[in-house]
Amino acid sequence: MGMRVLVCGGAGYIGSHTVIRLLAAHHEVLVVDSFVNAKPAVISRLESIVGEHVPVHTFDLRDADKTENLFANEQIDAVIHFAGHKAVGESVKNPLKYYENNLGSTFSLVRAMTRHAVTKLVFSSSATVYGANAPVPMKEDFPTSATNPYGWTKVMIEQVLGDVAKAQPNWRVAVLRYFNPVGAHRSGAIGEDPSGVPNNLLPYLSQVAVGRLDRLRIFGDDYDTPDGTALRDYIHVEDLAAGHVAALDRLASTTHAVSTWNLGTGTGTSVLEMLHAFERAVGRALPYEVVGRRAGDIAASYADPSRANAELTWQATRTIDDMCTDSWRWQSQNPNGYPDT
Ligand code: NAD
Ligand code: WQD
Repeated sequence: MGMRVLVCGGAGYIGSHTVIRLLAAHHEVLVVDSFVNAKPAVISRLESIVGEHVPVHTFDLRDADKTENLFANEQIDAVIHFAGHKAVGESVKNPLKYYENNLGSTFSLVRAMTRHAVTKLVFSSSATVYGANAPVPMKEDFPTSATNPYGWTKVMIEQVLGDVAKAQPNWRVAVLRYFNPVGAHRSGAIGEDPSGVPNNLLPYLSQVAVGRLDRLRIFGDDYDTPDGTALRDYIHVEDLAAGHVAALDRLASTTHAVSTWNLGTGTGTSVLEMLHAFERAVGRALPYEVVGRRAGDIAASYADPSRANAELTWQATRTIDDMCTDSWRWQSQNPNGYPDT
């Protein structure tokens, strides 16, 4: 049965793709976003993809009164919580910004949910909670830790949500640990649009390909991996979006207060393999050089996705070539990302 789903951070990269998937699955959607890391143009793009109006409430979730009013005025059956800051390096330089926003938005959301008896929550966690020394593939029952303030906000929010869910008998929380989300909607109309110089591999490569950056810098080729470059579990954002809808459906039937699911493909791909896949998508070689390792990086990170595969009847199906083709379609159609208005 269709639910009325509040999508917090629904104007962002993963949120916007998930809105499309929710509507396709006959859920109703309302979005809250402060637009601190999103452009308004994403909403009109979204609306032309889905062919309907997407209601958006523009405010910061840390504003407890506005959050409370929203829950008082709207019928909400479930919440997906994407809202937060996500840049690892910035979180090291400005930890309080991360603790305040990521924890503060969650507190005010959970308080309003409690007051209005909304008991289903899907939360965006991250593979970063496996810390620096986890073996691969990573499993949900591994201990959690972090190596930077961003990662600690995810560890802490997982703790908070677990405690809240256990204290309130009807709560059902899905903690989704994403690996490395990449790609874009197949239309090329929405995608990832980082502000400033991208930190992540795919947006960086895309900007090299489109001529905004001169070359890729590969952070280290002396890891203990097949080609010496680091391994990551890249997952297409459309597969990820489908995982959220599956998790939401599963919350309606599970008896567990908290369910933690890895969303990944289960395969590690190296930086060089990703570069070559992107070159295939673009149709030409891309300039790169190998530089030193980036502080805080680990050699290998990939999921054991078997729990999500079994319990959500969900599986990532899109290949590395699909991811690169779709990222490139978005970037080549929108060389400077979304327009400013
Ligand atoms: P994003 O920045 O594109 O989306 C987050 C959205 O939340 C943005 O639109 C931003 O404007 C909004 N927002 C931030 N703080 C807010 C607040 N206080 N009130 C209201 N809106 C607020 O990021 P994304 O890549 O779509 O990531 C979504 C979630 O998934 C984040 O929580 C992120 O930490 C998590 N995650 C992302 C990745 C990744 O690599 N992209 C990996 C693992 C986990
Ligand atoms: C991937 C690989 C780099 C850029 C980060 C966060 C993590 C999660 C996802 C939110 C690594 C290499 C990258 C470049 C490179 N986010 N690389 N040159 O570091 O796996 O994960 O995003 O939860 O918490 O830490 O992703 O895309 O930055 O890097 O060589 O210019 O590409 O060293 O091996 P990462 P990434």
